[in-house]
Amino acid sequence: MKIVASCRACSGALNYVFDLGQVPLANTYSETRAEAINLPRYPLRLCQCRRCGFLQLDVVIDSATLFSHYAYETPRGSPSLTHHYDQLVEAIATIHDAPPKRILEMGSNNGAFLELYASTCEVLGIDPAENVASSVRVARQFFTKETAIQFGKCDVFVARHCMAHIDDLKGTFEAIRAVLKPDGIAVIENAYALDTLIGAQFDQLYHEHHSYFLLRPFFDLAEKVGLNLFHAFRSPIHGGSIVMFFAHRGAGYHATDALVKLVEGEEIVEGALKMFPARATMAIEGLRAGLRSLAYSTVDTYGATAKGNTLLNVLGADALHIRYAVDSTPSKWNKFLPGTGIKVISEASAIPLNDEGFPYPRPDAYLLTAWNYADEIMEKQRAFRDAGGVFILPFPFPRIV
Ligand code: TYD
Ligand code: ZN
Repeated sequence: MKIVASCRACSGALNYVFDLGQVPLANTYSETRAEAINLPRYPLRLCQCRRCGFLQLDVVIDSATLFSHYAYETPRGSPSLTHHYDQLVEAIATIHDAPPKRILEMGSNNGAFLELYASTCEVLGIDPAENVASSVRVARQFFTKETAIQFGKCDVFVARHCMAHIDDLKGTFEAIRAVLKPDGIAVIENAYALDTLIGAQFDQLYHEHHSYFLLRPFFDLAEKVGLNLFHAFRSPIHGGSIVMFFAHRGAGYHATDALVKLVEGEEIVEGALKMFPARATMAIEGLRAGLRSLAYSTVDTYGATAKGNTLLNVLGADALHIRYAVDSTPSKWNKFLPGTGIKVISEASAIPLNDEGFPYPRPDAYLLTAWNYADEIMEKQRAFRDAGGVFILPFPFPRIV
C-alpha cells in the first residue's frame, strides 16, 4: 500500500473531496469470521486533481495483492447485462466499418463478453486471475506496456470496468496504442463519476477503484500517448456507466456530436463535487434510519458485492444485526465479508419457498447491496415479497419497498 500525493493522469497536486474512514479491501472474502473482522484497514478517501480534475483515491494497493486471486465473477444470465452487451456490440459494429477480425479484452474475467464474438472472429482475453475459469482463450497476464507486445494487434480492444483498478494509467494507454491496428478502436467502459456524484453513490468508492472517470481528463491522457477520444455514450449499467471510444490520432475518427454533448454536460461536475459530501452523508444516515426502523426484524443483505462492503463497513453493519449475505457466486459461498464478518450464503439456500428443512430461514428484509440489479433481483424474489418480505434499496435514495 502506498499513499500518493500527485495525480495519476497528469502529476498535478490532489485535493480531498470526501473521507470514508479506514476500510478493509472490498474483495477480500475471508475463510473465517475472525479473519474477516481483523483484516487490515486502509484510508478510503476521494481526491481530485487540482490541475486536470481527475478523480481518484490517494491510496494505491499493488495489483498483485488485488488481482491474482480475484473474487469477482461476471454474473451469467442477467437480463440487464445481456441487454447492455447487445448495445455494446451494436455500437462497435456501427463505428468500426469492417467486422473485426481480432478482439482483445483486458480483464476478460469468465469470458462472458468475448463469447459473443467467439464464433465470428479471433478472441483473446487477458486476465491475471488464475482462479476464474474462462469460456474463451485467455492469457493469464497483466496488460501493461511491458507485456502488450505478446498479445498481438487487434481491430477492437475492450476493457470493461477494469481501467479504474489501474495505477499506471498512462502506461496502460501506451499499451493500448501498441496493440491497436492502424484503424482499430479501443472501447473503455467504466462507472461514470457524474452518476456516482449526483447519485451520492458513496459505495462506488473502494480501494480496487483507484480512479473515478469523467470524460474531460481523458482528452489529455489520450493525446499524450498518440490516441484520440472520439466518441462516448452513457449506459445505466452498474448504477451509471460511461463507454468511451479511442483510436489512433489521425486515423480518421472525428469527435461525434454525442461526445461533444456529454463533455458539455460535465459542466455540472464542480457543483456536484461540492454537494457530494453532504449528499453521501445523507445517504448513509438515511440507510441507518431505515435499518433502525426494522430493528425487530431479521435483515440479510442481497449481493456480496464489493460496493456492499464499503456500504456495510461505513454503516457499521455489526451494530445493525445483519445476519447473512446472499449471493449467486459459488466461490463466495461460506466465506465472510471483509470488516463485518457477515457469512455469504447461496441464493438457493437462502430463499426456499418453504423454510422447513433449509439451513437459513428467510429474513424479513434484504438490504440490497447489489442495487444495480434491483429490477431483476426484485422480480426474481417476487414470492418473498408477496409473502411480506421487503427490500431496503440504498440508491438512488434510501427506501423500503
Ligand atoms: P456487481 O454489482 O457487479 O458488484 P461489485 O460491487 O462487486 O462490482 O456484482 C453483483 C453481485 O451480485 C455479484 O456478486 C453476484 C450477485 N448477484 C446475485 O447474487 N443475484 C443476482 O441475481 C445478480 C444479478 C447478481
Ligand atoms: Zn491531474
